[in-house]
Amino acid sequence: MKLVLPLISTLAAAAPYRTSRRQVATLCEQYGYWSGNGYEVNNNLWGAGSASSGSQCTYVDGSSSSSVSWYTTWTWEGSPGSVKSYANSGRQIARGQTIASIRSMATSVSWAYNTSSIRANVAYDFFTSEDPNHPNSGGDYELMIWLAKYGDNTYPVGSVSGTVTVAGNSWTLYAGSNGGMQVYSFVAMSAMNSFSGDAKDFFNYLTDNEAFPADTQNLIVFQVGTEAFDGGPATFTVSQFTAIVD
Ligand SMILES: *[C@@H]1O[C@H](CO)[C@@H](O)[C@H](O)[C@H]1NC(C)=O
Repeated sequence: MKLVLPLISTLAAAAPYRTSRRQVATLCEQYGYWSGNGYEVNNNLWGAGSASSGSQCTYVDGSSSSSVSWYTTWTWEGSPGSVKSYANSGRQIARGQTIASIRSMATSVSWAYNTSSIRANVAYDFFTSEDPNHPNSGGDYELMIWLAKYGDNTYPVGSVSGTVTVAGNSWTLYAGSNGGMQVYSFVAMSAMNSFSGDAKDFFNYLTDNEAFPADTQNLIVFQVGTEAFDGGPATFTVSQFTAIVD
């Protein structure tokens, strides 16, 4: 033991100098989670059980009171049509806010994938529920905004209900149900590498056109990330995500 101990302390002291990219947090567990400055980052490998092999880790680069930056690396094989994970960053929100009571949901995100030879999307995800304390893994309604999609057979739940213009962009709107949850997905007509706008506009669209009950639905989660189907190794980087619920 006397010989081993000095060796370990030498390695530990040297370790910080061997990494050039320093992370605030490294999340490799299935539901690895970090929070700070009103934001959170989730590894969220919820569908990993459908993969024949693969792995994914998510790294928090930094955060401030106004934004968070992070990246995730993944490789997944098997069940190409099934989502393996939704690594994401979220705004921590006070419970008990109905959509109707929220004036604006200003947000911006800048992101990059280092490959397009994958099946994946890049998407915002919102859950709402009549129960303000609903678990944050679902809700009565799900609203997704797909900023990009890669590969074949990467489609949202449901079927096309039309082409719509919201927040200054054109989207294909999909509607359908996932278990007991009503799902609306706005899929960008052409992929975008950044988004800046008011997410409340999408809820207003659903309230005006799809009878979404904004008076009784509470905001549960406000997230953006990537759903990985299969492929890789791939790196998805969010250089900044900002969200303000007002
Ligand atoms: C993308 O990132 C992964 C993980 O770091 C890496 O293994 C892979 O070679 C990268 N792909 C490209 C095309 O750079």
